[in-house]
Amino acid sequence: MAVNPATTIRVDIAGAPYDVRIGAGLIDRLGAEVRGVMRKDQVAVVTDAQVAGHWRARVDAALAAAGMTARWLVLPAGEATKSWAHLAQVCDFLIACEIERRDAVIALGGGVIGDLTGFAASMVKRGCGFVQVPTTLLAQVDSSVGGKTAINTPAGKNLVGAFHQPVLVLADPATLDTLPLRDIRAGYAEVVKYGLIDDVDFFDWCEAHGPALIAGDPAARTTAIARSVAAKARIVAADERETTGVRALLNLGHTFGHALEAETGFSDRLLHGEGVALGMALAARFSQAQGLMPGQDATRIVAHLRAVGLPASLRDLGLACDGRRLADHMLHDKKMDAGTLPFLLLRGIGQTFLARDVSLDAVAAFLDAELAG
Ligand SMILES: NC(=O)c1ccc[n+]([C@@H]2O[C@H](COP(=O)([O-])OP(=O)(O)OC[C@H]3O[C@@H](n4cnc5c(N)ncnc54)[C@H](O)[C@@H]3O)[C@@H](O)[C@H]2O)c1
Ligand SMILES: [Zn+2]
Repeated sequence: MAVNPATTIRVDIAGAPYDVRIGAGLIDRLGAEVRGVMRKDQVAVVTDAQVAGHWRARVDAALAAAGMTARWLVLPAGEATKSWAHLAQVCDFLIACEIERRDAVIALGGGVIGDLTGFAASMVKRGCGFVQVPTTLLAQVDSSVGGKTAINTPAGKNLVGAFHQPVLVLADPATLDTLPLRDIRAGYAEVVKYGLIDDVDFFDWCEAHGPALIAGDPAARTTAIARSVAAKARIVAADERETTGVRALLNLGHTFGHALEAETGFSDRLLHGEGVALGMALAARFSQAQGLMPGQDATRIVAHLRAVGLPASLRDLGLACDGRRLADHMLHDKKMDAGTLPFLLLRGIGQTFLARDVSLDAVAAFLDAELAG
């Protein structure tokens, strides 16, 4: 069998560095790939029902090929699984598997399974290892790297969590072949984000290759994942715990996006990545309206998001609320700092910066204008 070469990107976190391996076919070599971080032949795997339906047999075969077996915990698919009840279930499962600090559980799935399993791993035996095997584009380019883990509570999303880095990340773009197109598009929004943050060359690349990536081109997918992970690794290594402002750049589009997710009830009406796409378009247009960024850059951003089928204007969403109500959602953002809302704005494509003095009134007025279209 021909073996595709994998790209390895080192995430250089002081005290806890790890590799992200990216390559088509990695899932079929899973046993051999995780051997180095496993002490036992029986490994614990946490996944969701949808992912299990597509990939469980392949993972079992790949582990068997390396003389390993899996104990599976298969949870319901969906955001609601990031809950206290499922967190307890994962912890109890890991304890039943007799996992020790130097062992590692495998999280096979999207951001939901990665965030939940990683959080459980941060606590069981006061912290055991975990391997991320991300199977959504969003998880491969974003959530599997960087060590943020969390669950949701009735009061909001990701309100309880921990920083806990994985010991290894294995991203196989071929697993995306079974992912619904809508989730591919949503994950792609986070890819575009890296170009907008500080890499205009990568934004150019997105304009040229984004449509092919969405359509399923394997080379475009692999390149996008590798470039995105390299960007995230660099940013996270510079500011692991979001204390200096560098890591905050990753939240571009997320303040607007989060308000829209809240307004739509964190439902299927607006996926996280769709909210981020809209949020980046709004951040660009707000930056333009504030005289910070040339109009043609904002136009280019909106045009690219539309070209790949992502929402890029509030009219795409058909909301029945006003700008003040959306702005009020931002007040509950956990990134609020002593009453002011740090906001990510742009001076141009690839020139995102953290503005600390944005007035919520100006944001509300801007959103009213956007809603009026
Ligand atoms: N930790 C971080 O840094 C970070 C960053 C961004 C987002 N997140 C979190 O990630 C979550 C969203 O992640 P997501 O978009 O991956 O959602 P998800 O994990 O819910 O996956 C989306 C859907 O795709 C299915 N799926 C996964 N892989 C599949 C495959 N290969 N084939 C077919 N179906 C598949 C899942 O079952 C699910 O129904 C949110 O909870 C968000 O808060 C975390
Ligand atoms: Zn995001």
